[in-house]
Amino acid sequence: KTAAIVGCSFSGGQPKLGVDKGPIHLVEAGLIDQLAGLGWKVKFDGHNQFEDIKVLDDPPIGILKNPRLVSRVNESVAQVVEAHVRNKELPITLGGDHSLAIGTISGTLSVHPNACVIWIDAHADINTAESTDSGNIHGMPVSFLLGLGSKIPEFSWVKPLLKAERLVYIGLRDVDVGEKRILRENNIKAFSMHDVDKYGIGRVVEMALDHVNPKRDLPIHLSFDVDALDPSVAPSTGTPVRGGLTFREGHYICEAVCETGLLVALDLVEVNPSLADDASVEQTVAVGCSLVRSALGETLL
Ligand code: ARG
Ligand code: MN
Ligand code: MN
Ligand code: MN
Repeated sequence: KTAAIVGCSFSGGQPKLGVDKGPIHLVEAGLIDQLAGLGWKVKFDGHNQFEDIKVLDDPPIGILKNPRLVSRVNESVAQVVEAHVRNKELPITLGGDHSLAIGTISGTLSVHPNACVIWIDAHADINTAESTDSGNIHGMPVSFLLGLGSKIPEFSWVKPLLKAERLVYIGLRDVDVGEKRILRENNIKAFSMHDVDKYGIGRVVEMALDHVNPKRDLPIHLSFDVDALDPSVAPSTGTPVRGGLTFREGHYICEAVCETGLLVALDLVEVNPSLADDASVEQTVAVGCSLVRSALGETLL
């Protein structure tokens, strides 16, 4: 078993500085050794992989911010993730903001077109160019992957490879009005925090898997936004929303996905070490590392 850490020091999908420092903190906290300790061979190509990508002139398209930069970085991320998945290595993409999922999921789906996506988040990140209020592309990656909304020529490399029935959310609690409509119109399965309270995390994960992966035979891409966790558990993130997953609920999801033996790619995004005090940053980084370890088998006996 080989894992490949893909460090994405990228913040262009949202306006807050610091989220680009997430990967450095996660790696410096010892993530690579921790995964090696679980018996994984770990590859890491360094923190500067995507930093050469510069766009000199990047005015908004409509209200979308940094569109060309987001597109070019993601095109490159997609190629890197695709190469690892093709090579049967598990790419662990460390963000950086969640716009990176445009690239990571494109990479996974180009190798495994039948893969399903389990999206763990407080937010649905499914705004289109028409529905977004913020213009922050980290609130939009899912719509790009599904091919919803008006086509933006600058993103023409993104193929709508994701089917609505192969996508499921867990943890939602801050979904824009326009996003709710999009979820409804496209029949997308989503388990909100209300569902986690009602059924418990065990049943929610089972129902989520039954929906996207009924025979438990499809590859899984797990995209984990740390803001899915309650801010008391993961405070250092750009768009915290109270009422989130507990420490154990977050880890349970990773463990249960690991247990399927079907995980082919993992994203851990939106760790922002510039927000909050040192102790909160340390806590958030430690939780990030521990979620990744759980997805790679730590807590299973
Ligand atoms: N729905 C809001 C927006 O579109 C917030 C998105 C937050 N996304 C995230 N990846 N943290 O701007
Ligand atoms: Mn989020
Ligand atoms: Mn909004
Ligand atoms: Mn997100």
